[in-house]
Amino acid sequence: MRKKIIAGNWKMNMTYDEGQILTSEIVQMAQDEQLKDVILVLNPPFPHLHVVKKLIGGASNVFVGAQNCSDKESGAYTGEVSAPILASFGVSFVIIGHSERREYFEETNELLTEKVKQALAAGLQPIFCCGESLDIREAGTHEPNVKYQLTDSLFELSAEEISKVTIAYEPIWAIGTGKTASAEQAQEMHAAIRKHLAGKYGKEVADSISILYGGSMKPSNAAELLAKPDVDGGLIGGASLKSRDFIDIAKSY
Ligand code: PGA
Repeated sequence: MRKKIIAGNWKMNMTYDEGQILTSEIVQMAQDEQLKDVILVLNPPFPHLHVVKKLIGGASNVFVGAQNCSDKESGAYTGEVSAPILASFGVSFVIIGHSERREYFEETNELLTEKVKQALAAGLQPIFCCGESLDIREAGTHEPNVKYQLTDSLFELSAEEISKVTIAYEPIWAIGTGKTASAEQAQEMHAAIRKHLAGKYGKEVADSISILYGGSMKPSNAAELLAKPDVDGGLIGGASLKSRDFIDIAKSY
């Protein structure tokens, strides 16, 4: 059985106090029987990670994740945060290769390979993002484009390593735009991603990897997306900043 994962990407939002209120509300609402099989991941900005982890306490279905990590293990890299530092206080997940990082911070496929390796070596679970721009979607080359992102960044991992990676398919044209990929478009791409993984690592490994959809996912469209056989969860931006919306998405399975 693949894991059902609903991850909230807070991006550069929420003050320290706001983040604590949001976390406390989510942790409380997550204690619902209906959510016992859903993994909820909160990915706040770096300074909030420690307190979010503390507020999660013993909740068995809520985890903390970072939005990024360094491609280096340690050393003189002012302003960077390494995977071992994150792991040392109980961070479980890390988002790697979000389209905003690829675009605004010029992160390349090669750099992302290093970040994924750092995360895995530290025992973090990477949530690796891929997805095409509007131009590429309109040109009809979205499938080869996304496959190339995966091949170039992930295919030097061993089968054991890739089994620990969660993939997030996030069409860039759907991020923060209110425009969601249709459930059919999401399913088509998720199935293509799984087939691509199976081609390299075999069906058993590909079938065990959770593939999340991201891009304007909200309570009103989550059920339709999550009902698709290859859509295992969601990476939620805007709607993860409201506890009720985030929880309602998780209840949409
Ligand atoms: P959105 O962001 O839900 O606000 O579209 C998703 C993401 O960027 O992960």
